[in-house]
Amino acid sequence: MKKKLNKITYDKILASAYFIVLNVFKKNLSTRQSMGSKAIKFSSLSSSDKAKCNDLVQKVLRFTVYLDPWINRNKKGRLRIEIFCLVRLALVDILVRNVRQETVLKKYSELASSFERTKHSKDQLRYFIHLGYSVSKKKSLEPLFLFESKIRKVLSSQYSLEIIERVEKIFSDSSPIDLSIKSSASEKNYFKQLQGTSVNRSHFRLSQKTSLIKTKGYWAGDWWVQSLAASLPVKIAPMDLKEKIVLDVCCAPGGKSFQLADNGAILTSIDKSERRLKLMKENLDRLNYDLDLICADVFEYQPKKLFDIILLDPPCTATGTIGKNPDLQFLNPLDKLEELSDVQQKMLTRCASWLQDDGYIIYSVCSLLKQEGEDQISRFLKKNKDFCLIHPQKKGYLDQEGYETNKESGIRIMPFFEEGLGGTEGFFIAYLHLKGKSN
Ligand SMILES: C[S@@+](CC[C@H](N)C(=O)[O-])C[C@H]1O[C@@H](n2cnc3c(N)ncnc32)[C@H](O)[C@@H]1O
Repeated sequence: MKKKLNKITYDKILASAYFIVLNVFKKNLSTRQSMGSKAIKFSSLSSSDKAKCNDLVQKVLRFTVYLDPWINRNKKGRLRIEIFCLVRLALVDILVRNVRQETVLKKYSELASSFERTKHSKDQLRYFIHLGYSVSKKKSLEPLFLFESKIRKVLSSQYSLEIIERVEKIFSDSSPIDLSIKSSASEKNYFKQLQGTSVNRSHFRLSQKTSLIKTKGYWAGDWWVQSLAASLPVKIAPMDLKEKIVLDVCCAPGGKSFQLADNGAILTSIDKSERRLKLMKENLDRLNYDLDLICADVFEYQPKKLFDIILLDPPCTATGTIGKNPDLQFLNPLDKLEELSDVQQKMLTRCASWLQDDGYIIYSVCSLLKQEGEDQISRFLKKNKDFCLIHPQKKGYLDQEGYETNKESGIRIMPFFEEGLGGTEGFFIAYLHLKGKSN
């Protein structure tokens, strides 16, 4: 009886994973969109089955660019997108997750038989499964993350091959889960009890994927999830934040607002997404910080006062987070680059008009592309001569590879920053100082 239950559950996990992957390639839907869709039935899985499904999906998407040429070379005739996706899933089960051959054959045959568009292609699927096991024995196919060709081309115009390969190596492993620790909790003994590494006093990296709400300190509001790179714009800010009047523009889901509040800023935070603000509010209640949260569009919002500091983290291609969200590179992020670059510059200009004399803008984007980082700042500084760049001192843990200061345009964080601990996301940060009209 128990065996039968497991069987049904496993099929559901595989079926959900299959449709989530298929939707990325066939319908251009993100994994998050599919996971929320009733048709996929992901939401009816138990939380541990969701985690298993998500793990399979993430690995398939991470290794797709590596696996596809091999599938194309070995296919006999045309492969429907549906069977192509099933082969990708099976190869990850074989080569990465080391699932037994009988199990893979059985589960994938069952799944293929259940759907009109795959049931006549079971032989092709079985052929690939056998081939997958034969190359796994020889270890001649070891999946790696690779950038998709259009993204790789753009990156190649900005970085050397060596740098791109270093990023790909970091993105080959699952992204770590990082916690930002509240300053009032950082001395608590239980951080020693959590399994992981203390990256620095206010940041902790969990060593294994685990249920966050069951992790110590969650309900006490002692930490929130935030990648190391995303925490840097506030963590290394070279200006005092305590009791400053601060505006966080494009704040949701809130990691940087929580840091600003933790540093004693008097904070107003705005974002236009109700869905993301709802998530932020839930965390805010748990963390118990005091801030003014506003749902507004930057281009309509009219503040009643000027600010000492404005943090702007505008929408971007998020190419620095492809390691964490590998579906992103198949959803044509470059198609939006021009529009996003325009919005970023307009937001910067608008924020500049809300600043006190002697105030600061902290600009950050989770992008690897210079168009959204360095170029934005150079363009802004050319038009706004009363602003200049300032930089944190490159000492302590900042003095390492993957942290680069460009005197004219800002700071680049590469995913191999803290490589020894597993690296991080790609980010860009700039600190702009309004020198004051009299200077
Ligand atoms: C990169 S995310 C911000 C991440 C956030 N700063 C954090 O640390 O958690 C960009 C945000 O910009 C918001 N956004 C995009 N266009 C906007 C607009 N015109 N006005 C206000 N918010 C906007 C999105 O809803 C999204 O939450």
